[in-house]
Amino acid sequence: MKLMIDEGQIQVIRRLYDVFPAEGVTTNPSILAKTGRPPYEVLKEIRAFIGKEAQLHVQVTGESREEMLEESRRIRRELGENTFIKVPVNREGMAAIRLMKQDKALVTGTAVYTRMQAYLAAQAGADYVAPYVNRIDNLGADGIQTVKDIHALFRNNGLSTQVLAASFKNSQQVQELCLCGIGAATVSADVMERLLKNDAVDMAVSVFRKDFEGLCGQGKTMKDCG
Ligand code: G3P
Repeated sequence: MKLMIDEGQIQVIRRLYDVFPAEGVTTNPSILAKTGRPPYEVLKEIRAFIGKEAQLHVQVTGESREEMLEESRRIRRELGENTFIKVPVNREGMAAIRLMKQDKALVTGTAVYTRMQAYLAAQAGADYVAPYVNRIDNLGADGIQTVKDIHALFRNNGLSTQVLAASFKNSQQVQELCLCGIGAATVSADVMERLLKNDAVDMAVSVFRKDFEGLCGQGKTMKDCG
């Protein structure tokens, strides 16, 4: 499972890349709005930082298929041909996915709440589909189970489309989907930090250090002890 960062602030992305094995960045219009800056300025900064080959997912906002196609062309021109175009899986979005695939774009079907949306987007040629775990839960359905079903649905139908699970509220949800071997998960900075944060680990490390200093002296490590 690839781990991606669902974020638009470059300083946050830098901080997480420094520690976590992130393989890309995903954004959506709301994430870009939070930066308060011109979208292409923000996205070019992200692209320059993560590199030409890394995955960058950028969403279109137009209502018609023609608008979405034009947006996808501008996005690819500005940010590289390998930028994934996020397209909401609704009526116009479905038509747009087909047009974009004819245009040789990489496409992520997004705003996925149901298994059928995922199936249809995959049949239309989407490279990824992004089901929203937490938002599905908030509708009274089971987000994790929906993602598992979509993963199975793709395998059972010989579809090469990958799942890019999104909208997580905690690290347990990420872990559970990692166990299933889904294609990718994109997580917020907060959830990413929680994948590693563990007081028991901090305490164990602190005891090791204290014991060692008791043996060799304050501040001593394996580089400068006897
Ligand atoms: O990019 C879509 C998805 O990540 C939204 O997440 O946390 O706003 O539900 P969230």
